[in-house]
Amino acid sequence: MEQRTRLVPARRRKLTALDRELDPYAQRIRQSGVEAIWKIGEELQAAKAKVIELTGDRRAPGFAQWTHHTFGWSKSTVSRYIKASQQRNENLKQIWGNKSVASTQPTQWFTYNIWHISQGDGKEFFGHFALLHMKNLLYRHTQEGDLVFDPFAGSETTIQACQEMNRRYWVSDLIPQSKRAHRHNILDGWPKGLKETPDLAFLDPPYWIQARGKYSDLPEDLGNMSLADFYAAMRGLFRTLEAHKVPKIAAVIQGSQYKNENHDYEDHILEFAKMLRSYRVKMRYILPLESKQYVPQQVIVMKPIECMVVHRDLVVWEREK
Ligand SMILES: C[S@@+](CC[C@H](N)C(=O)[O-])C[C@H]1O[C@@H](n2cnc3c(N)ncnc32)[C@H](O)[C@@H]1O
Repeated sequence: MEQRTRLVPARRRKLTALDRELDPYAQRIRQSGVEAIWKIGEELQAAKAKVIELTGDRRAPGFAQWTHHTFGWSKSTVSRYIKASQQRNENLKQIWGNKSVASTQPTQWFTYNIWHISQGDGKEFFGHFALLHMKNLLYRHTQEGDLVFDPFAGSETTIQACQEMNRRYWVSDLIPQSKRAHRHNILDGWPKGLKETPDLAFLDPPYWIQARGKYSDLPEDLGNMSLADFYAAMRGLFRTLEAHKVPKIAAVIQGSQYKNENHDYEDHILEFAKMLRSYRVKMRYILPLESKQYVPQQVIVMKPIECMVVHRDLVVWEREK
């Protein structure tokens, strides 16, 4: 007699034979990026075919339960994915509607504007922006299918967050870490390859003296510039974004606790606010540093000016109508 998989209702089931069989599909679905939404649909169709094969039942019993408990997706979300896989060229937003998020990873959504995380991602990359913070930014300020532009890609947190949350991305860096990021110097203005106005520009630049020599020895590296040149570079970038009518700009900013050329304390947010003439602040988030990020040496640096910077700000500006 043919072996059939016993299906257990979602509430009672732990790891069933069906889960094990479908796990490779789940893995591939999690890895599919937004530019391959149809890929998710194809994997879902393949997973459904597998259920039919296992159960011998064309109604694919257990498939909807599996997608629900594995990804938290409703039947209509699954059918939209499948539809997308069958109509590749349709406008993504039309296919997706305005659903705000369909994350394939468990995520904590912060309720208020203090985004405290006890643990980072464990990435060695200097100035890495935590994935959880990035996902919260996307969750609050973008929709599925939106295009996110990140000209300071670094370790590519933006790519990962966009892939997990079905956002499109166009990322670049002076020194790209992989082929997924374009090579582009922000001093050269609008990137030639960026043909569409992004819905959000995410800026996580090196903050001048704090990042000196951390990424390169190049003079065009913002980490190696004088304070005046750093501000001139950022002013140029803001002007470019403004000229292209980018509706939202988000910037990660850490006040500099180092003694500098002109002042004891440099508040970059206030300086940026002066540059963004046609934008207004939509929200300011406080991102406390993880405790391991402020070490005794840092305290020594901060002592003479009696200033301890132990958080970063994430400020979101919106273009005035
Ligand atoms: C703070 S890191 C970005 C971190 C990133 N958000 C992450 O999560 O890994 C700043 C990045 O800006 C890049 N950068 C510095 N000067 C640049 C320039 N003139 N144009 C483009 N990128 C530049 C550096 O190479 C570095 O990767």
